[in-house]
Amino acid sequence: MEKIVWDESFSVSVEEMDEQHRQIINMVNKLIDMKDVKVDSETISETLTKMTEYASKHFDKEEKYMIEYDYPYYSEQKEQHRQFRNRAANYCLDTMAYKTTIPMEILDYLKDWWINHILETDMKYKSFFNEKGLK
Ligand SMILES: [Fe+2]
Repeated sequence: MEKIVWDESFSVSVEEMDEQHRQIINMVNKLIDMKDVKVDSETISETLTKMTEYASKHFDKEEKYMIEYDYPYYSEQKEQHRQFRNRAANYCLDTMAYKTTIPMEILDYLKDWWINHILETDMKYKSFFNEKGLK
């Protein structure tokens, strides 16, 4: 599976958010690296848990700005974030006990979700936040 390559097309023009998105993409890429190797379930679970916790903090930060600046698509963002948190938490539990390779289903989900979320959903706040002076 190809890794996600962060390039300028992923930039939402808010430095703090770009940096967090890059970190998240690194974590997802780390999981993609585990695809072809046998690793113990703790390693998978730990990496997945770290990503989920980091993503959760990132969502909190995004949502905080959205509330502060009265962003019109806040509820769409909130709902997508909520769904991701649930799904990722389930995957964390799922991988904890018995998996020796990371399930393809998880990689597909993570990769698609982040690419789609950043490029489609987050991209909508790019000009909005920039106009508010958040860069
Ligand atoms: Fe978001």
